[in-house]
Amino acid sequence: MTGVGARAGRGAESGGQAPGGFVAPAGFLWGAATSAYQVEGANDACDWHDWERISATCREPCGRACEHLQRYRQDIALLAALGLNCYRFSIEWSRVAPAPDRVDERWLAHYGRVLDACHEHGLEPIVTLHHFTNPRWLARAGGWECERAPLAFARHCEAVASALGERFRLAITINEPNIPPLLGYELGVFPPGRRDPAARRRVSAALLEGHRRAAAAIRRAAPHVRVGLALAMADWQALPGGERELQRTRAAREDIFLRACGEDDFVGVNVYTRHRIGPQGWVDPDPGSELTAAGYEFWPEAVEATLRRARLLSGRPLLLSETGIATDDDRRRVEFIDRAVASLGRAQRAGVDVRGFLYWSALDNFEWQHGYSQRFGLIGVDRATMRRSVRPSARRLGEIARAAQAARGSALPAPGGVA
Ligand code: BGC
Repeated sequence: MTGVGARAGRGAESGGQAPGGFVAPAGFLWGAATSAYQVEGANDACDWHDWERISATCREPCGRACEHLQRYRQDIALLAALGLNCYRFSIEWSRVAPAPDRVDERWLAHYGRVLDACHEHGLEPIVTLHHFTNPRWLARAGGWECERAPLAFARHCEAVASALGERFRLAITINEPNIPPLLGYELGVFPPGRRDPAARRRVSAALLEGHRRAAAAIRRAAPHVRVGLALAMADWQALPGGERELQRTRAAREDIFLRACGEDDFVGVNVYTRHRIGPQGWVDPDPGSELTAAGYEFWPEAVEATLRRARLLSGRPLLLSETGIATDDDRRRVEFIDRAVASLGRAQRAGVDVRGFLYWSALDNFEWQHGYSQRFGLIGVDRATMRRSVRPSARRLGEIARAAQAARGSALPAPGGVA
């Protein structure tokens, strides 16, 4: 990943300091992330659209989302104006491939325009090829239990890389291949709503196979693109007597995925909180602990622990591809960001090679089964008017990014030139 993201060149007008004495290496990526289904709106071609209509656990339909489909230019301009230097977004498989053997050129052209907008604004695009949603035709054929799924996904990735690979240098094949198997096949709150641990294991293996095939397909079509996956991780802490249970839980949730990343260019780490495990299993946060609006503990320090573990098990360079907080009190978001950056700095000083900090999410968006009730955004979205409002936390992250980039004096790389 050397050189990727060395885009800055903006001044340190703010004079802000990175929290905890964190010193960003040259080319460090500072950004925010979204996923297509959660922000674009008007997607009726994927399994999540159908799931919202039949699931008792879904609060509301996605509908217009944030109208990012029409407003992506404005959103990208806002992120760039903050001082960030990258934007992670996803290319929606169900749009690009409306049928198993069809590629819709109009959608490829749309995502080409999104990539162009990133470049126009000096943002390094990070492209995710699968972020939870599947095309309806795949869901009807058995989803990731269908034998053809890994190959079909690799074909999608190849089509995207062939058409658009000149315009991006970093690709995340699958966002959190550990989450849909758990939530969709064991806990039943994601599509297809099953409660079958054996199916969870099969789907986990299929997603990893999909990742391997997709990475190879992207490299064939666009050899300069650096490829990895993003894993959902947590800071797992054992209470006395809880060590064995912790190891058992973490092995299925994280370790099998991390150990499968050895050939990748990087590993994306998505982290939000910690989990404490005692001899009987999960232990609730101590009474009086601060909880986020998503219901889990406010614990930005999870960043250091997860980065260290991801490095230990994968041996790969890392990208903090998501961290963030759902809250209606933006001061807590500012505090979360400061402490998460400081936590990343501690991992870095311990020798962990980490290349970027991406906040989840750029916008208040559709939070899956919770609908619009949880607000993660650096930028607020008025649900009636779709008006954007840039929060102080967004300015804080931009201030940190500007200061770090100015301190390194990094330069804009030649288009398409990855060292
Ligand atoms: C997912 C996002 C989600 C976020 C907050 C991550 O695990 O990648 O899609 O919105 O967590 O819950």
